[in-house]
Amino acid sequence: MNVTTVSKISEHIGSEIELKGWCYNFRSSGKIFFLQFRDGSGRVQAVYSKGDLTDEQWDALQSIRLESSVVIKGLVKEDSRAPSGYELEGHGIEIVSLAHEGYPIGKKEHGPDFLLDNRHLWLRSERQWAVQRVRDRIIRATYDYFQDNGFVKFDTPILTPTACEGTTELFEMDYFADDSADDAAKSKAYLAQSGQLYLEAGIMSLGKAFDFGPVFRAEKSKTRRHLTEFWMMDAEGAFIEHEGNMKVQEELICFIVKEVLEKCAYELQVLERDVEALKKVQAPFVRMTHAEAVAKLREMGSSIGDKDDLGAEDETILTKEFDKPIFIEKYPAEVKAFYMKRDPENDGLALNNDLLAPEGYGEIIGGSQREDDYETLLERIKEDGLDPEVFDWYLDLRRYGSVPHSGFGYGLERIVGWVCGLHHVRETIPFPRLINRISP
Ligand code: 4AD
Ligand code: MG
Repeated sequence: MNVTTVSKISEHIGSEIELKGWCYNFRSSGKIFFLQFRDGSGRVQAVYSKGDLTDEQWDALQSIRLESSVVIKGLVKEDSRAPSGYELEGHGIEIVSLAHEGYPIGKKEHGPDFLLDNRHLWLRSERQWAVQRVRDRIIRATYDYFQDNGFVKFDTPILTPTACEGTTELFEMDYFADDSADDAAKSKAYLAQSGQLYLEAGIMSLGKAFDFGPVFRAEKSKTRRHLTEFWMMDAEGAFIEHEGNMKVQEELICFIVKEVLEKCAYELQVLERDVEALKKVQAPFVRMTHAEAVAKLREMGSSIGDKDDLGAEDETILTKEFDKPIFIEKYPAEVKAFYMKRDPENDGLALNNDLLAPEGYGEIIGGSQREDDYETLLERIKEDGLDPEVFDWYLDLRRYGSVPHSGFGYGLERIVGWVCGLHHVRETIPFPRLINRISP
């Protein structure tokens, strides 16, 4: 008996196999029983005839309930009508654990709150299965791209003493006091918003590096693009300047989309994703300055101000205009983070960029060249009302062998949402954390 998985079923045509998994649906018609089976690697239908089974096995089938775990045996047959291309002629069934009655997720439409309350079970549904597989592929493609291009994985801390992206969206917690002898005295720690500042230290050792991990933002925003805990990949390179930085972003995104198209064709079909739109994600991407974007948006009826960040609505209308991702570069420096280098041709502008995904999805990446001059950076830290002492280690990077350098960070859930064609990022992460949700 070949113990195998649905993903390898094509290697066993005409043979008897054994599969271990769950019953996701079933129907009975007289002496024939149709069992819809899934094992994590894929789905297949097993068709049982009463005459092929012992009475005990037939009774077990009759008593089965949704999401019971089972071991099934049968003969693999090609079937062009089946979505998987194969069917199993069922010859054996063993119920590992009979599910309780009343599996909460059924065929009928459920509201988002109900589904999120049952997220631990909802994850088994086929669409959710497909989303998690695409997410895994995007993570793999990211590692492949960076490690094949000389970037070293560098793990940045989650517990930090400072803000990276502004102080308004920080999760704060008590931490041990510096003087650990005094237990009563506590100091503050913050959950990381991005590993960037630490990655800048990393590249002064490794040249090019990237991190990948959970980050936290106490964002009050209740939009379809915001989570309070999400996964960010930050990349950073020594001697890479603004233009080179955008080139890395463009190559990375093209590679990710190509990998998903090649390796997740079935998942995209389950998600009913328009793959033609994804195939258009090719270099060169569209490029405009922040000032050009503002002018264009005003033409399109937006009331965006000269120094405003693009709102979600602005990003949506702009990205519906183009079928490729859009770089928006050189934002007014005063509304951007202290670490961004200024444009040598216009001191009022930052050498930064956002990257917006097409089809209305909006910002997936934020990046910039970093200020590498010691005096200028110190000045910016003070201007922003930050404590230079806390950033002393960061200033050391400019004291000892400073180099021009740049980097960017992507939001994994934003990319997964776009590539899968989902309306809301809450479906892209296994257990979403939103301002009004921290369970299950
Ligand atoms: O644009 P952001 O804030 O950039 C940084 O944090 C830089 N330090 C990154 C760097 O240069 N290394 O965040 C980067 C990306 C955004 O483009 C967006 O895709 C995602 O992180 N993001 C969020 N995703 C989900 N929920 C949120 N609340 C997010 N905030 C940012
Ligand atoms: Mg941003």
